[in-house]
Order: sequence, then structure tokens, then C-alpha cells
Amino acid sequence: MTPFSTRLTVDLGERSYPIEIGAGTLGGLGARMKRLGVGGRRVFVVSDTNVAPLYAAEATRSLQEAGYTATFMAIRAGEESKSLETLEGLYVFLLDGGVSRSNAIVALGGGVVGDLAGFAAATILRGIDFVQVPTTLVSMVDSSVGGKTGINHAKGKNLIGAFWQPRLVLADTDSLRTLPRGELVSGMGEVIKHGVIRDAAYFEFLEKDIDRILALEPEAIGRVVEGSCRIKAAVVAADERETAGVREHLNFGHTIGHALESVAGYGSFRHGEAVAIGMVAAGRLALRRALWPQADQDRLERLIERAGLPVRIPRALAQNSAALLQAMRIDKKVRDGALRFVLPERIGAVRIAGDITDKEVRSALEEAAA
Ligand SMILES: NC(=O)c1ccc[n+]([C@@H]2O[C@H](COP(=O)([O-])OP(=O)(O)OC[C@H]3O[C@@H](n4cnc5c(N)ncnc54)[C@H](O)[C@@H]3O)[C@@H](O)[C@H]2O)c1
Ligand SMILES: [Zn+2]
Repeated sequence: MTPFSTRLTVDLGERSYPIEIGAGTLGGLGARMKRLGVGGRRVFVVSDTNVAPLYAAEATRSLQEAGYTATFMAIRAGEESKSLETLEGLYVFLLDGGVSRSNAIVALGGGVVGDLAGFAAATILRGIDFVQVPTTLVSMVDSSVGGKTGINHAKGKNLIGAFWQPRLVLADTDSLRTLPRGELVSGMGEVIKHGVIRDAAYFEFLEKDIDRILALEPEAIGRVVEGSCRIKAAVVAADERETAGVREHLNFGHTIGHALESVAGYGSFRHGEAVAIGMVAAGRLALRRALWPQADQDRLERLIERAGLPVRIPRALAQNSAALLQAMRIDKKVRDGALRFVLPERIGAVRIAGDITDKEVRSALEEAAA
């Protein structure tokens, strides 16, 4: 049996790029870059201290076989590396290595590596090519597609960055086998979100195949990466720079999710866990307004649970609604005092509600509490 593989395109005119998805695709990295004419002769591979021992050798071999000179650097694994300091280290690595405009950066790792290396690519020499080789589920279905790159600042997450599209995304689903279970499950939060905001058939596929997906059966997990990338790519193509109100739909579950992460303290929840609870709470808001059916709320909660994600807010946290509301206001989704939410209408469709009151949020938080 040939292993599962498929290919999509992110349609952005002259900035369009392919997403290659499949089991065992990493060995074809160099050849695919060569075919696309990326990187001249020289590429700089950026990875992290967890991913490098697992996949750097294969990536480097593939690049060398395609005729590239590959120079390699591993940053320390973890969110703390999305910093100005690590970025500066990356600039030194690139400049000492004699980087030129025709070279490329390959980001081999999760969203941290992708966001940081992508921002280095966007800014070094006013911008060079880069390639995303995502190795976490979050990076395969979310961060590697869409061109948002950047780092954190002491004043908040992702405050410094640029839109900079990659030339190629190559997702080898085999690399998910070494990913800690909790990281895989966390990624399922964004996957379920994609089904709710855009695609009822995709949501049904997740309901049907969730066990095979979590077991990383190649075709099942391949279809997940394909399905989610297709949805994210369509949203990005319609609203590349988040100015048309379409990309905002990707924030479903994130208004309350971000607030939970910030009030509980970063690290208390995985992002996907906070988003899962946020989707449940947003669903409750929609239920209260009779915008969406109870049956769909039940399906949403059931799928989230089966994926191994939480559906309830710890009570002590839910009771701190003042802090949660304040965090939501800081999270830039407020216009003219009222909170903006992405609310579900049915599985497969959402709308923006710009007039949500604090009282409604408090009730939804209470209902979603454990
Ligand atoms: N740019 C965007 O549009 C966008 C979207 C979503 C998230 N993000 C960002 O992405 C980051 C989160 O990404 P993430 O969840 O991939 O986190 P991550 O990059 O920190 O990876 C999670 C952990 O898994 C390890 N790891 C990665 N691949 C592995 C593998 N195959 N086997 C074993 N271990 C592996 C990493 O070393 C790390 O410890 C956040 O900084 C977030 O802000 C960006
Ligand atoms: Zn998210």
C-alpha cells in the first residue's frame, strides 16, 4: 500500500504556495524545494532542542541530496524562545553564515520554531524565502499556514511580527508519532474549531473517525491535516491580513479561551484545552440567544470530550468572572465597549456578534463551570 499523501494550494496570487501532506514526506523536502526554485544553493535550517535529535538528520540529508548546502541551528524548545533574544541569536547565525537574498530558511518544528524562524525570514535582509516543516499537530493545521509570524513581548503574546508567507509547507504526518500525547490532543481543539466554523461534513468525519485519528492511522490523520489546511487556506485566501472580517472566524473559542489562559496563568492550560472550553462557552452564549440548536451544542461537547479535551471551566476560575471579563477586554476584541464574539449558528457556520453584554458572558461562564 502506498502511504497516504496529498497536496493543496494556498491561493494568494503571486504569493501562492503548496502544502504537501503525507506519511514519510520529509525525505522529499530537498527535491520539492529544488523544484520550486527555493533557496538558491544555501539553506538555513532552524529547529528546536526536542525536534532536532529526531528529524534534523533526515531533513539535512534530503537537502544535501538535492544539492543544497545546509547550515543548522537548534533553539531551546519552548514558548520562551519566541523572544527578541533568541531572534537576535538567529540573526547572528544567519549573518555569520553569510546569508544572501537568494537563500532560504527552513523551519523544522512546532509553532514556536515556525513563528520565530518565519519572522527572522521576514526581516533579515528585508525578507528571504522560507519553508515550513511543521512537526506538531498545531503547526500542521494552524500556524504553518497563513503567514502570521512573530515573537512575544513582555507586554503580551505575538505583539511583534509580520505577515510573511512561506514558499512551501511540508507536513510529514509520521513525525506526529513522537509528539507527546497532550500536544496531539491540544491540536485537536483547532481541528474541531475548523469543522464548526466552516464544514459540517468535516465535523462528521471527525465524529466518525476520532479514534483512528488519535491512533494516528496514516490516512485518518492525513485527512485531518488536509481538511483543516483546506479550511484555513480558504479563510486566509479570502482575508490574508485579517481586514475583511473573515479571518476573525478563526477566533471561535478564543475570546474566552485566551482569557482563561491569561487568568489561570500561562502554562496552566494548553492552548487547545482553553480553546475547547472557549468553544463550549461560546456555544452557550449562542444557545442563550437561540442562535443555534441544543443538538449541535451536544454534538460539539461530545466530540471535544472524545478528543480528550475539557468541556468545563474549573469552578474557581469561572467564579472569577471579573478577571476573565477584564482579560477579554484587553484581548483586542472589544469595539465601543461591547465584547465581540464568534458565535456558532449550526455545525459548519458561525457569525460575529458585536453586542455581547457582560451579563450574558457571566451566565455562559456559570453554565460552563464544572
Ligand atoms: N502563526 C500562527 O498563525 C499561529 C497559529 C497558532 C499558534 N501559533 C503559535 O504556535 C505556538 C504553539 O505551537 P506548538 O503547539 O506547535 O508548540 P511548540 O512549537 O512549542 O511545540 C510543542 C512541543 O512539542 C515539541 N515537539 C515538536 N514537534 C515534536 C515532535 N514531532 N516530536 C516530539 N516533540 C515535538 C516541541 O519541542 C515543544 O516542546 C505558539 O507560540 C503560538 O502562538 C501561531
Ligand atoms: Zn488557537
